[in-house]
Amino acid sequence: MTTPPAAKATPFLKWAGGKGRLLAQYAPYFPRDAGTYYEPFCGGGAVFFARAPERAVLADINPELVNVYTCVRDDVEGVIARLREHAAQHNSTYYYTVRAQQPGDLALVARAARLIYLNHTCFNGLYRENARGEFNVPLGRYTNPAICDVANLRAACRALQGAAILHAPFDHVLERALPGDLVYFDPPYVPLSATSRFTSYSRHTFGPAEQTHLRDVFVELARRGVRALLSNSDCAVTRDLYRDFPIVTITAARAINARADRRGKISEILVRNWPT
Ligand SMILES: C[S@@+](CC[C@H](N)C(=O)[O-])C[C@H]1O[C@@H](n2cnc3c(N)ncnc32)[C@H](O)[C@@H]1O
Repeated sequence: MTTPPAAKATPFLKWAGGKGRLLAQYAPYFPRDAGTYYEPFCGGGAVFFARAPERAVLADINPELVNVYTCVRDDVEGVIARLREHAAQHNSTYYYTVRAQQPGDLALVARAARLIYLNHTCFNGLYRENARGEFNVPLGRYTNPAICDVANLRAACRALQGAAILHAPFDHVLERALPGDLVYFDPPYVPLSATSRFTSYSRHTFGPAEQTHLRDVFVELARRGVRALLSNSDCAVTRDLYRDFPIVTITAARAINARADRRGKISEILVRNWPT
């Protein structure tokens, strides 16, 4: 009798810009024969978990997020135990007590469980910080939030075994990636209108200077023979930044928007830094 293959992990965090619903559209453009897989704007890691590469480098500028991945990789049972305690005590008062904790005062595993708990119980799974870097999203309206999905956390732990997890800005990839490797960039998007606030994930801003720097990193990787794919919003600014590269249009649903009437379809772009 053969043992059935272990289930593939899916993202265990809800993350703005999560790519879960776009994976089928992306699949034809991602090469299978890549060396190390890099995801420098890791967020919820939907593409990483779908690809489940043997060797990966995941990075993000959000230290809480980086700690979550590190703890799930290195001590998933510790994270699960703390999450079960959160799930047992969850109510409105408890949520705000946990939210008020300073992550720096907690042990690393408790800190990771705190973020997963808040992420599954807060409004719309948003991650937002005030100017002091404190998580400030209010409680969401869930009757029975799934706080601790044990099977998926264990699957995520397995998927992360071959991953280096770094707290680093996206251009750190230039110091590591080698010819034959594959980089997938999913940056905060160029806003489609002045009122779009999709770039404000944290106190770090991602404005025109960062978008241009990212394009330059994309060009430099191409020059070195490192393949890169990049998602961004579909607008004149991005089409101009990447005008020298093949661009594919992807149809996406706006996943996180407080107003249901603004959750319609929009298009995004997927850019490749190598010729067909
Ligand atoms: C659009 S989200 C990524 C979504 C992710 N691909 C998913 O499927 O959930 C962008 C991520 O980039 C991170 N980020 C923002 N500025 C960054 C920077 N300069 N360097 C590295 N990461 C950054 C944010 O913390 C956030 O997690």
